[in-house]
Amino acid sequence: MKKDLTFLGIETSCDETAAAVVREDSDGNVKILSNVVSSQVDEHLEFGGVVPENAARSHAEKIDIIIKKAIEDSKCEFTKLDGVAATAGPGLLVCLMVGLSAGKSIAGILKKPFLAVNHLEGHALTPRIFNKIEFPYLLLLVSGGHTQFLIVEGIGRYKRIGTTIDDALGETFDKTAKMIGLEFPGGPKIEKLAENGNENTYVLPRPILNHPGCNLSFAGLKTAILQLSSKIKSEKDRENLAASFQKTINEILNVKCKSAMNEFSSRHQKSKKVFVISGGVAANKSIRNNLHKLSKEMGFENFFPPTELCSDNAAMIAWAGIERFKNGIEDNLEVLAKPRWPLDPKAPFLKGAGVKY
Ligand code: KG4
Ligand code: ZN
Repeated sequence: MKKDLTFLGIETSCDETAAAVVREDSDGNVKILSNVVSSQVDEHLEFGGVVPENAARSHAEKIDIIIKKAIEDSKCEFTKLDGVAATAGPGLLVCLMVGLSAGKSIAGILKKPFLAVNHLEGHALTPRIFNKIEFPYLLLLVSGGHTQFLIVEGIGRYKRIGTTIDDALGETFDKTAKMIGLEFPGGPKIEKLAENGNENTYVLPRPILNHPGCNLSFAGLKTAILQLSSKIKSEKDRENLAASFQKTINEILNVKCKSAMNEFSSRHQKSKKVFVISGGVAANKSIRNNLHKLSKEMGFENFFPPTELCSDNAAMIAWAGIERFKNGIEDNLEVLAKPRWPLDPKAPFLKGAGVKY
């Protein structure tokens, strides 16, 4: 008989110290019993970005408290856990080591299964917490460090069919925001400004839009904004630029998502057409509306994680741990952090390689 599975998840790959407890009951219903996220955004402001050593020190100072709070909030004792999952990569090595060591220690002391989770798999599987989404599905993963189209064939089985060849989309939002005087993280601030702007004010480049396939590029767009930024003086200028930028992103995503959907359909002719968008940028309402509309037009069912689970959190790590454990996977306590850990190891490394499409 199937039993409940309750996992503690731990996440410290970048600048969020997070812990969560997630339970799947014997009927397959999933509950997030606790979800504690402590952001270091304010601590990194004066340095203009995340300094790995500072981030790691901050994780080390907070991790015990965050885990304790996640356990208290969940009303589930340590001894009632069925397993512990911690992010092992990709991310900043010194940061990953903090959460990974904490996870391994707790699993070791409790003598419970330990799962070393790929942060990107956490994002990829999040929509399955609340929806019965079957494999395979098409995934657009859009975060601060990654922008990829993947076919999710199963747990631990990913085929990358497209990627950014330079900046990630979240990074493009953040850099654009910085160039017009907004603080990190810029994505939500650009979204807010864009609400009052005229999206037709600036015509911005859409790099490699007409190239075949579904690779993406944002570097040229960023350069164009840098050139424009000296002319952005008033709040209205900022709003108009934010709106024009967001419109351009939506245009790029429309074309590239369509290509990715066609690629998915040709590879999986008999499968249900499902398109999942996850990662921090998936919180953007304009992008959500745009891609929801596109999915409908293309005959794809469409899923986003709830907004609060788009950006980094440990509930997605606990859930990926549960999914992997149900698939018979367990890791030993010798597992090391992996700063670079692509979901599809066979896909060529394109970022910054100067490829044209
Ligand atoms: O997934 P995430 O929390 O961290 C990484 O794994 O990178 O993604 C963070 C990224 C940041 O670049 C942030 O600016 C972007 O997601 N982001 C957004 C929005 N909320 C967060 N971008 C656009 N619109 C938003 N509403
Ligand atoms: Zn992330």
